[in-house]
Amino acid sequence: MDYMKDWPEPIVRVQSLSESGITTIPERYIKPASLRPEIGTPCSKDLSIPVIDLSGLKQDQPSCNSTMQAISDAVREWGFLQVVNHGVSPALMKKAREDWRNFFHLPMEEKHKYANSPKTYEGYGSRLGIEKGAILDWGDYYFLHLLPKSLKDPNKWPSLPPSIKDIIEEYGKEVVKLCERLMKAMSVSLGVDEEYLQRAFGGEDVGVCMRTNYYPKCPQPELTLGLSAHSDPGGMTVLLVDDRVQGLQVRKDKVWVTIKPVPDAFIVNVGDQIQVLSNAIYKSVEHRVMVNANEERISIAFFYNPRSDLLIGPAPELVTPDRPALYQPMTYDDYRLFIRKQGPQGKSLKST
Ligand code: OGA
Ligand code: NI
Repeated sequence: MDYMKDWPEPIVRVQSLSESGITTIPERYIKPASLRPEIGTPCSKDLSIPVIDLSGLKQDQPSCNSTMQAISDAVREWGFLQVVNHGVSPALMKKAREDWRNFFHLPMEEKHKYANSPKTYEGYGSRLGIEKGAILDWGDYYFLHLLPKSLKDPNKWPSLPPSIKDIIEEYGKEVVKLCERLMKAMSVSLGVDEEYLQRAFGGEDVGVCMRTNYYPKCPQPELTLGLSAHSDPGGMTVLLVDDRVQGLQVRKDKVWVTIKPVPDAFIVNVGDQIQVLSNAIYKSVEHRVMVNANEERISIAFFYNPRSDLLIGPAPELVTPDRPALYQPMTYDDYRLFIRKQGPQGKSLKST
């Protein structure tokens, strides 16, 4: 049976539910009490993830080492950071957000042309995971590939609004450059060769994909989540969040911390593949998304991943008698298959 070919039950667009004017959410979206936003794990209002200015990250400048150190500290302590002066034009970021918002505001018939299946997830979707009867998240999304070239198919990208294809292209190029710089900084701050992570990812043959998340207004936000707790399965994520509405929470030990977005910043986090390569010196940290009764929210998650057929295992230099290898090498293809079946369910990798 090809159970990855289609969804196990008819797809309901969360946006349609939201716009139908219901005042209570269907049972399918109600999380068990321990997983609800305010009732389960406590939230901390006082903590926040580090904000790092990347303009210091220029070779041969005194600021370079301290910037590198700040990145290293942030990843070790949080797994998450916000970056400013990252080289991507704020106007482009704004336009990307606007075009995607306009896409989600198109009539349903238009969006349905791009309806996705669990085989590749490309296109317009409303659930992650294929478990029949699973409790669902309060969000729709659009998923697409930018690299490798063999997977990039702009016919699977939206053609409306008219500028969106060009914007995706330009945004992709700019964010890839940022990822390349961050990969170097993270390699150095792990104590391996500057090119180590990039090489382990396949050099120029990395995989790049993007998921734009759309979280419609929700009449009972206290009962559900826009995206359940998960760690990102890939290499590194560069997230552009809504400039108007908060929603992302990051787990810090036993509490959830709500991210306060800084204007024109990106949120950067490491995924499971960098955790494996670093032999868990860097950890991919769990995060989740809350929804809102009065505001919809948009985010653009940019995933920078290893070439999918390479074996990813701990860097030999980071394996010592005191710190034996924590993981068996695995390709990202195999890892992703396993994650795609189960949907967002906390963290899959052991970390000690
Ligand atoms: C993701 C993610 C966070 C957000 O897409 O993996 O964690 O704020 N998104 O939408
Ligand atoms: Ni995520």
